[in-house]
Amino acid sequence: MADIYDKVIELARRRGFVWPTSECYGSVAGFIDYGPLGAMLKRKIENVWRDFYIAREGYFEIECPTIGEESIYIASGHVKGFADKMIQCPHCNEFHRADHICDAHGIANSETKSLEELTEILKNLPCPACSETFDGSAVYYFNLMFQTTIGPGSQRTGYLRPETAQGIFTDFGRLLRFYRDKLPFGAVQIGKSYRNEISPRQGMIRLREFTQAEAEIFVHPEKKDHPNFERYAERIVPLRGIKQQECGGEPLEITMREAVSSGIVANEYVAYYVALTHDFLITCGADPKKVRFRQHLPDERAHYATDCWDAEILSGRFGWVETVGIADRTDYDLKAHSKQSGDSFTVFIPYDEPKKGWEKRIVPDMGALGPKYRGKAKAVADALSASKPTDKGAEIEIDGEKILIPPELYEVREHETEIRGEDVMPHVIEPSYGIDRILYSILEHSYDEEDVEGEIRRVLHFPPRVAPVQAAVLPLMGRDDLDTIALKIMDEIQNEGLIAQYDDSGAIGRRYRRQDEIGTPFAITVDYDTKEDKTVTLRDRDSMKQIRCDADKVPGILRDLIRGRISFEDLE
Ligand code: GLY
Repeated sequence: MADIYDKVIELARRRGFVWPTSECYGSVAGFIDYGPLGAMLKRKIENVWRDFYIAREGYFEIECPTIGEESIYIASGHVKGFADKMIQCPHCNEFHRADHICDAHGIANSETKSLEELTEILKNLPCPACSETFDGSAVYYFNLMFQTTIGPGSQRTGYLRPETAQGIFTDFGRLLRFYRDKLPFGAVQIGKSYRNEISPRQGMIRLREFTQAEAEIFVHPEKKDHPNFERYAERIVPLRGIKQQECGGEPLEITMREAVSSGIVANEYVAYYVALTHDFLITCGADPKKVRFRQHLPDERAHYATDCWDAEILSGRFGWVETVGIADRTDYDLKAHSKQSGDSFTVFIPYDEPKKGWEKRIVPDMGALGPKYRGKAKAVADALSASKPTDKGAEIEIDGEKILIPPELYEVREHETEIRGEDVMPHVIEPSYGIDRILYSILEHSYDEEDVEGEIRRVLHFPPRVAPVQAAVLPLMGRDDLDTIALKIMDEIQNEGLIAQYDDSGAIGRRYRRQDEIGTPFAITVDYDTKEDKTVTLRDRDSMKQIRCDADKVPGILRDLIRGRISFEDLE
């Protein structure tokens, strides 16, 4: 289907999944509105994610502000380094991402080229907007964070968060106590993040305001074996490691156990979340043939990562699209926040057995210090006791003045002591999901159309678990009590906590088509037989097969079908 994107977006707008924002004012690129079905689909995808990360992994969810004060993003490196290389056309004044223009002209490795190299390369290339050449206009950095001020005046700079992760890092101390001071532990967050993209022209794939679902898992730096690795050890996931990319080979189809033991994936934690992500994407409706994992090349890795894998999903319009990043962020962030804030971002890890060690104690010679420093002698002695002397003496600071105390004015005594453990700065494993991209991919992979008796039947084959409407209730006629019976069934389905839609207008075939098009997996039809024998027709969207079942059993059957406890074939 060459024009799959156009078809999906047409359906998405017409049926209320996604549309441009504030259309009455002309919309703004990079922002979208989710309509009633889109918002519901998104919530369902997020809830499947919660099932994976909160219910099963046991990581609790937190919610931090979307605006953060400047220090957070100075520490994280975003103020200095979160920028794309940009060029402005001297003729039409349009802004462009320099690497995107290179990519469009088949120029390789554009992301890693310097500003000067890009300026030179782009000199004779045409501007995508007006086709005039750039004529040597300089390429420069454009920071992608939205800046704001906090409170009146402009004393306090704030930024709209470019990732949810930093909120979890700055909460580290409180989370550590919540998890009773033990590693490993994790926290997750689902929420909006913001990036002021230079020229977003790819619909839902590149948004300026987007939803991330992120998990930050704090682990001992020398213990990167996942406690539940066996759950995914035998799962086979298509992997494009660095070697496969360099040789241009097909993805490897190997188990996660093999991927770790052969060193392709850095450790069990990263491998575990690669496999979990594969599981999650397919559970939500991504086509397994269109999902693969690509390892970042050393020169494309984010500043904080030692190993990083992207889940890529194939789109008919955009090619392989990065939708999830799974990174080993090491102690980069905690170290940076510790330095910026002065707080401790470590965990005390007790040894199995306390170790014997030697502790040094500085004993000031008061007899000598008194006459020499007089009124300051006590302050000098206190500072001396807390100092770490070298062979030359101990450097201390009194009232802003640095003083070197020579060794003859104190004694260093060593005594045996018991060391119970050590302070360790954890490493962070981060699976980070772009929910909007995942949602678009699921729309595209679920979309299908076929000719049924000369008419196009459009279907969204959503898994029942994520379908925005889970059941349709259709009285054959809106009279003769069929409507009353149907509304009662509708009420019972809703009481079961399921999302159902009632539709009594038009021919039944048309009503089925309307539900197929929004991906409703099951339809219940109330007809004249229902009045006699209290049975209804239950129709399966994908096979279009129908069975009769007792009306009063419908809510329970639907619940089991949607939870995957039974299949429609079981009912047949
Ligand atoms: N937290 C990873 C990212 O936003 O790219």
